[in-house]
Amino acid sequence: MNRTTSFTLLQLSDCHLSADPLATYRGENSDHNLKRLLPACRAFAPDGVVLSGDLAEDASVEAYRRLANLLDGLAERFAWLPGNHDDRRVMHSVYDDLGWHAGPVLEWGGWQLALIDSTEPDRPDGEVDAERLAPLTGLVADKPALAFIHHQPLSVNAPWIDKYRLCNPELFWQAVDPAIVRGVGFGHVHQAFVGEHNGVRCLSAPSTVANSQAETEKFTADPTGPKARWYRLRNEGRWQTGLISVGMN
Ligand SMILES: [Fe+2]
Ligand SMILES: [Fe+2]
Repeated sequence: MNRTTSFTLLQLSDCHLSADPLATYRGENSDHNLKRLLPACRAFAPDGVVLSGDLAEDASVEAYRRLANLLDGLAERFAWLPGNHDDRRVMHSVYDDLGWHAGPVLEWGGWQLALIDSTEPDRPDGEVDAERLAPLTGLVADKPALAFIHHQPLSVNAPWIDKYRLCNPELFWQAVDPAIVRGVGFGHVHQAFVGEHNGVRCLSAPSTVANSQAETEKFTADPTGPKARWYRLRNEGRWQTGLISVGMN
């Protein structure tokens, strides 16, 4: 008889740490706000963490190292993908030694996690091609999957960040089989968002430093502070998700 188990996953995004720990991002200190959020993240006791890009503001070794120190002991497993502010090569140089995974496909808790790189050098928007999408087209049919990507593959109804979304979402969605992929988690939008495309749930992880209120014309600071997204993945395919805020522990 198959036993039901569940895997707890935390998605952290858009930490925007700089080499200088006192630097600010949109008027907020990135280290301070991440530290404010971490007690609630630790209380969730994730089995795994996915970091969905813009981990550093300046792509510095110092920022990536400090992030690893701040997250030390939060989970057994860590995985990452880059955002438009990151440098994949520098991330590998820091995170490979720590055993942090870059996928592009992981199998955690009986689920497949596909990590899609949507970044292009010196561009704030995202783009994918067949090679970048190979982790999605290579998923096996008998296990549920989540896909993670930095740029939003659909409009989040916020013009200030939708102008920098994934520029070729049609290609992305062609690679997503809704019979396998249950949800797509992204970062980049710095706000809470829940939507759907072809029966696949589309979910943002808000930033751990600064967020906008949802669906506004211009970035409009959200006073409710930094956030993270949690997932509870059951091995028979059912799942739940929600947000973690400061003080929820
Ligand atoms: Fe960001
Ligand atoms: Fe971004």
